[in-house]
Amino acid sequence: MKASILSYTLIQAVHNIGAALTLALALLLIGQICMSVDTKKVLWALLAVWGLQGFTGICFGLSSLYFYGAFPDIHNLAIAAMGVKIVSVAAMTFLLAFLIYKKKWDVSARNKTVFVSLSIIALVAASVLRWNS
Ligand code: HEM
Repeated sequence: MKASILSYTLIQAVHNIGAALTLALALLLIGQICMSVDTKKVLWALLAVWGLQGFTGICFGLSSLYFYGAFPDIHNLAIAAMGVKIVSVAAMTFLLAFLIYKKKWDVSARNKTVFVSLSIIALVAASVLRWNS
């Protein structure tokens, strides 16, 4: 297997598992009415996973730069989709860091909805990016 393909495959594997975890962890918080969940640990895990998404997203670009000497040549809709993902990561990182800093372990229903919604928005943006680049 070529080094570039191996690199993209490994980044994509981690990025895809991270994407699944952003939704799974948010749903875990919603499901905590009927089961016992350590909110503090879930908030830290969410922060780590959203951070990982940003990091692996950047790794895609750096791989392109390293192997092909340029960032991926994307236009219009793909750029918009990428922008949506970057804004989602920034918003979630800010919100989670704020909740953890303030020790707000009783996460409101509204914030839980924001967690799920931003994950779904980023996943839909990923589909748009995938088929418009
Ligand atoms: C800074 C933020 C992010 C950047 C820069 C980024 C970048 C990328 C790039 C370059 C790809 C490859 C696109 C292609 O196949 O041509 C990708 C794929 C993907 N991203 Fe992201 N991403 C980010 C955040 C996220 C987030 C927050 C999620 C979901 C919660 C996500 C979910 C996905 C998924 C599921 C794919 C695979 C799409 C497919 O090929 O089927 N990404 N991302």
